[in-house]
Amino acid sequence: MNDSYLNFVNSPFGARIARSLGLPKPEVLRRYRADEPEFGGLIAIGAGREPHLLDSLADLVVSIGVTSVAHESAGLWMPLAHRHGLMTGRFEPADSGSATRLAALIFDASGIDDSSLMEPLHAFFHDTLRSLRQRGRIIVLGRPPEACASPRQWTAQRALEGLTRSLGKEARRGIIANLLYVGEGAEHCIEATLRFFLSPRSAYVSGQVVRIAADGSYSRTARAAQTDATASPFDWKQPLAGKRAVVTGAARGIGAAIASVLAAQGAHVIGIDIPAARDALDATMHQLNGTALAFDIAAPEAPAQIAAALDEHGVDIVVHNAGITKDKTIAKMTGAAWQSVIDINLCAQERIDDALLAAGILRDGGRIVGVSSISGIAGNLGQTNYATSKAGVIGRVQSMAPLLRPRGITINAVAPGFIETQMTAKMPLTLREAGRRMNSLSQGGLPVDVAQTIAWLAHPGSAGISGQVVRVCGQSLIGA
Ligand SMILES: NC(=O)c1ccc[n+]([C@@H]2O[C@H](COP(=O)([O-])OP(=O)(O)OC[C@H]3O[C@@H](n4cnc5c(N)ncnc54)[C@H](O)[C@@H]3O)[C@@H](O)[C@H]2O)c1
Repeated sequence: MNDSYLNFVNSPFGARIARSLGLPKPEVLRRYRADEPEFGGLIAIGAGREPHLLDSLADLVVSIGVTSVAHESAGLWMPLAHRHGLMTGRFEPADSGSATRLAALIFDASGIDDSSLMEPLHAFFHDTLRSLRQRGRIIVLGRPPEACASPRQWTAQRALEGLTRSLGKEARRGIIANLLYVGEGAEHCIEATLRFFLSPRSAYVSGQVVRIAADGSYSRTARAAQTDATASPFDWKQPLAGKRAVVTGAARGIGAAIASVLAAQGAHVIGIDIPAARDALDATMHQLNGTALAFDIAAPEAPAQIAAALDEHGVDIVVHNAGITKDKTIAKMTGAAWQSVIDINLCAQERIDDALLAAGILRDGGRIVGVSSISGIAGNLGQTNYATSKAGVIGRVQSMAPLLRPRGITINAVAPGFIETQMTAKMPLTLREAGRRMNSLSQGGLPVDVAQTIAWLAHPGSAGISGQVVRVCGQSLIGA
């Protein structure tokens, strides 16, 4: 879909008109491209008292090869950076004349254990935000409030959500802001997530709170596979090499984008779609060297058929993307419209997972990702059936996560906001425009934004993330 307003206000003439009329000017977001560097520029580091994550940040800065500057709040950063052999300088505020544009702001708030100690947050973002370049990144690091030892610490850590979400709304210019709560013992399991949020892969993910738990499988399998203790345990270009991934609804739209991103990261993709979409499915899978399975996932025999088709080689990643809408207010909605949406969007996921888990076809250390929707978080007029099904997807990942943990399997959901697909192209113009603009980035997302988020959750380095919902909505005001 073409967003003509975004294109217009980013043309020289349109930009002048937008400026003179005071119209919003959505930034053209930068998406990941294999032929462009993924990381670059300067990262400013800030910290509160007793930060616990600076070591991991130093590892990250070495690993992605960027340069850092220390804000005065992060007094420990300079000596630490020097120990890691990093070139680093002091942050110069924008009004000092020698200011440099920053690519990212990272604040380690993990040691803040009292609400009276939050001043460094103000100092850091007050001093640095104006130096953050367009499409820059803001990451706040904290500890999961619910695991904090005292009410005061819990309170201070919970307060970080308000800060981060407000920064996302204030920053504009295509900048995203996200909060990572890093559990005790998970300090060295955060690189995959930090990379995602610093990369153009997360272009449309803002205002999110992600919890990373200590993860046994990371230390067991990833570290064991390391020959050089200082080397990264993952192949960052092809992290899914050797993995097999099933994607439902893969013939078009978001599903085709998910299949393509997982394949680009090395996975063999098995795409499923209805028999009527067979030609499109075959074409997509042919391009990706994948396997096409033409099944209606809601058919009673589908779980057994899918399990039989996957049995020989097993599977590592299952993405439940297939979904439909049959919108009507509930007074006008037929029982059939209600039931088919619940059945395809929710019950089929449960039946397929149950079949794959019972037969051991989904391997230990596997990944399940369900596609929910912000309608499932906020509800939506005319979508009682759809919102019920999508809220159910959230309940499913929350309830299954602890059950799957002993096998090292994670289960998460992504909740897209307004994504430019054939589904949203069918919306009436006014609703479509409202859907596009009512978020901090003032534009719709692309299927690839959902796909990249799923690929991050499927990454071997995301083993500490389970039972969570990540919105891919540009920080939509709906359900905020
Ligand atoms: N587009 C958005 O803005 C948006 C927003 C929130 C959530 N979502 C969700 O993202 C997912 C993909 O959406 P999309 O916009 O790409 O939709 P789409 O209609 O373009 O694609 C959905 C695909 O699922 C397939 N499918 C439908 N029923 C199936 C069945 N019974 N068995 C097998 N395949 C089936 C379709 O044939 C189609 O290829 C859906 O779950 C949708 O609810 C989309």
